[in-house]
Amino acid sequence: MGKVLLGVSASPRKNGNCELMIKQIHAGMGAGWELRLARLSDFDIRPCQACYQCLFGKMRCPQEDGLIALLEEISLADAWIAAAPTYLLSANAALKKFLDRGLQFYAFVDRLWGKPAVAVAVAGIEGMEGSTKLNVESFAKLAFADLRGSDVFYGALPGETLLSPENRQNALRLAKSLLDASARIAPEGPVCPVCGGDTFRFQPGGRARCMLCSGSGTYGWKDGRLEIDIRTGDHPLFLTREDVIRHAEWLRGMKQQFLDRRKELKEAVKDYLAVGTIVERS
Ligand SMILES: Cc1cc2nc3c(=O)[nH]c(=O)nc-3n(C[C@H](O)[C@H](O)[C@H](O)COP(=O)(O)O)c2cc1C
Repeated sequence: MGKVLLGVSASPRKNGNCELMIKQIHAGMGAGWELRLARLSDFDIRPCQACYQCLFGKMRCPQEDGLIALLEEISLADAWIAAAPTYLLSANAALKKFLDRGLQFYAFVDRLWGKPAVAVAVAGIEGMEGSTKLNVESFAKLAFADLRGSDVFYGALPGETLLSPENRQNALRLAKSLLDASARIAPEGPVCPVCGGDTFRFQPGGRARCMLCSGSGTYGWKDGRLEIDIRTGDHPLFLTREDVIRHAEWLRGMKQQFLDRRKELKEAVKDYLAVGTIVERS
């Protein structure tokens, strides 16, 4: 039986660049791979209500939308692609809306953990992708994928990404990385030694923080090259399966903390409750 590649596209544009790059990657995987395409716009993903019910009991979000169906689809796939367009210097809101429901992912950890995935960021103007690459990488990591590579594909008009030989070449590299873990793609510049991310925040005193895994460490110049040394932080979210389970337990423990500290919290907010006028939609 053939294998299934699932493309998750956050773009509202049917046959737009996200979908076309997903299809280009699928083409590079050769025979034997069926492509399934999940358009987030078809799944009515609603905003997280912060009720935390997905972490307790049956571990199911009370909202009846397409979230569970999407997670089932990813669970059934042999490999998957997270793709999002850049809107105003970050991945569009459809991707973030899905990710905001990510506490529900913990109920699927056994089925999602270590699934091969690649991340696709699309941007209309070269260099104007903002945080989109980081956003799609975070999405894949927080869905417990074995992220094999990621790339930014430039093209504004629907179909324009396909006109670039470089884009086609890079899509092929992503396809190869999905087929073979040893072909995983390391970013060209400085890389976080903990998670493979390449987006950093530079801080005073030669300190640096990886924006993907949140680990922190130091940076400095050696032989004209920037070297970044990052160590795992106190609260890793996805580096190991144990981290994932530990974080879910920590979140569950917050419920008890809330109950234990309710009085103190109530006291702290009481003088603020009646301040300000609620603006209503006219
Ligand atoms: C609301 C909106 C905002 C956009 N903002 C950016 C941007 O900040 N940077 C950029 O490079 N492209 C931006 N674009 C262009 C899209 O990223 C580009 O057209 C891309 O190909 C869309 O992918 P799609 O065809 O899969 O929808 C924007 C497009 C829209 C509709």
